[in-house]
Amino acid sequence: MKRRTRIARTPHGRLLLGDCADLLKKQRSGSVDLIVTSPPYGDNRRTTYQGVKTGEYVTWFVPIARQMYRVLKDDGSLILNVKERVIKGERGTYVIELILAMRQLGWRWTEEYVWTKKNSYPGKWPNRFRDAWERCLHFTKQRQFRMYQDEMKIPLGKWAERRLANVRPYDLIRQTSAVGSPFGKKVANWIGKTHVYPTNVLNLATESRNRGHSATFPVSLPENFIRLFTCPGDTVLDPFIGSGTTALAAIGLERRYVGIEISADYFDLAAGRLLAFEHLQSNTDLSGGAPRKVAASRADVGRRKTAIRRVAAARSRS
Ligand SMILES: C[S@@+](CC[C@H](N)C(=O)[O-])C[C@H]1O[C@@H](n2cnc3c(N)ncnc32)[C@H](O)[C@@H]1O
Repeated sequence: MKRRTRIARTPHGRLLLGDCADLLKKQRSGSVDLIVTSPPYGDNRRTTYQGVKTGEYVTWFVPIARQMYRVLKDDGSLILNVKERVIKGERGTYVIELILAMRQLGWRWTEEYVWTKKNSYPGKWPNRFRDAWERCLHFTKQRQFRMYQDEMKIPLGKWAERRLANVRPYDLIRQTSAVGSPFGKKVANWIGKTHVYPTNVLNLATESRNRGHSATFPVSLPENFIRLFTCPGDTVLDPFIGSGTTALAAIGLERRYVGIEISADYFDLAAGRLLAFEHLQSNTDLSGGAPRKVAASRADVGRRKTAIRRVAAARSRS
């Protein structure tokens, strides 16, 4: 007998319980605007959730990458947060092999963002320092894709007031690189500007309390990419959703979400968290949908209030 997929619905989307290699096949082609996900790392954490042997990683991931390509809109983006683990004192190569395999499927490896962890674990190893950054690989289907760079502008900073108050003649012309690289700068370009584009390095704290999941990323990580690559009302997919972080970020930014999780425990955890989070805003009648009721954490309540204020401010501006 065929098993029915368990689904938890909330006003902004749905969570599915099962293997994403199967469930992605049921999603409509070209139905999502952005995929943000952190698949299990090769062989890591086998005690807490299903790991994948590093030697089998690419073979395991390729059919999933093929389905992700199909369900993503042509002008959409995929952010893959993944890093090689160290085995017998040496970094594995499976992420590098995965990038090459994904290019064979038609994915373009457009960019790599680096997430540096403000609060990485202390520790000492004989041949390396503590690991304080992770890769966020950015793949697209085509060279032209949607990207809302102006949404991400950051304040220029106090240093600029002093520096730009004292512009010298050579600041008015473009200075080319002394070592012959194609990069140059014209300081005068910054005059009158208060905000500038950020870099491809994201300096974010890890979540201090991981709420029952051993490998959560901070909400600010998916938030960053959701703001950069989507508009309100767009759909964000996370096929390895764990505790529901990507969906939480999507709801807070008024996007829709689809999440898939293979572990029933994590599915229940994510569903309870999302229902509580949505309930804070909408007072929608969520009876019947909740697999497990959990109270929203204090951090989630704060996040929800900020999100509601942000949406209300945007509505009053428009
Ligand atoms: C690195 S964790 C993701 C954590 C998530 N980003 C968060 O913040 O909670 C990977 C998750 O993928 C789930 N997983 C592993 N294999 C899967 C599969 N084939 N289909 C769906 N989920 C899977 C694991 O149970 C785990 O919760």
